[in-house]
Amino acid sequence: MNPRILLSWLKKFLDMGKQNSEYHIPVLLNSSVEALITNINGTYVDCTFGGGSHSRKILSKLGKKGRLIAFDKDKDSLRNSIDNDDRFQLIHSDFRYLKKYLLYYNIDKIDGVLADLGVSSHQLDENERGFSFQSDRSLDMRMNRNQELSAEMLLKNYSEMELSRVWKTYSELTNASKIAHQWIKERKSVRIKTCKDFAEWVSPFVYGPRNKFLAKLFQGIRIEVNQELSGLEELLQQCSELLQPGGRMVILSYHSLEDRLVKKIIKGESNEPLSFLNSNESKMFRLVNRKLIEADDEEMENNSRSRSVKMRIAEKI
Ligand SMILES: C[S@@+](CC[C@H](N)C(=O)[O-])C[C@H]1O[C@@H](n2cnc3c(N)ncnc32)[C@H](O)[C@@H]1O
Repeated sequence: MNPRILLSWLKKFLDMGKQNSEYHIPVLLNSSVEALITNINGTYVDCTFGGGSHSRKILSKLGKKGRLIAFDKDKDSLRNSIDNDDRFQLIHSDFRYLKKYLLYYNIDKIDGVLADLGVSSHQLDENERGFSFQSDRSLDMRMNRNQELSAEMLLKNYSEMELSRVWKTYSELTNASKIAHQWIKERKSVRIKTCKDFAEWVSPFVYGPRNKFLAKLFQGIRIEVNQELSGLEELLQQCSELLQPGGRMVILSYHSLEDRLVKKIIKGESNEPLSFLNSNESKMFRLVNRKLIEADDEEMENNSRSRSVKMRIAEKI
């Protein structure tokens, strides 16, 4: 047999055996699913399938007539799909197309939506995906590898103003414009091949703890490459139309930009110009948890990713 075919079979076999917890350890698993389900025979959406732990938990709580539609725009997550359960369906797409897909499947109302935002551990840990500043592969950061814009292309083609906006708004760095200015001056002459090279190049601009600074810088690029905030805004807008009265939206955010957006929409208050939030439809949701829900000490100890989680639960009025 051709050794390349044999190798690819072997890889597929090993990947299948990979535990979901190796792909991604779920955060606030029990409390999020408990908050989500109000009708065991209802229709639910898991917008961020990843390793599939939240979806599996939801299915375990649903009755025979319940239904779960899941989304993930990363092809790698498809290998975690749930077979032999006809209540479940996984869609390889951005969740910003939620309404279109539901229309296609003749679903006009849903009972709950869960979104566990951001990246999976798999995406961060896989060297070749180029998400981490420790990766020695090229800067990629695309959740959906069919899309054209990668982190490398962004650094190559964005103007000084655009880069400055990304690092100011999404990384919340106070020296964003200085970094952007110097990068534009040097980008044609410096040899940056990997994430590590870029992290090294930016060293003179680092303030505070190095890893924290780099994590913020890379986070900004990632948010822009994947258009994370506009996707979230579109999703939340659609949720207000699609949820039945009493249906719930459970959102797990990992940085303040996401959480601020979620909070504004739930509270129906925004001062963002040209946003749907300014329309008269404002008050669409009732806040279920007045206090933000965070992971407890035990979960934080076992799963470092849970340290930054903020969960908000809202009920459609
Ligand atoms: C934090 S992980 C979710 C983990 C999942 N809850 C679990 O139990 O394993 C986030 C996942 O959402 C996906 N994702 C992020 N933004 C997305 C979007 N706009 N559309 C579709 N999938 C998205 C990522 O590819 C990633 O797999």
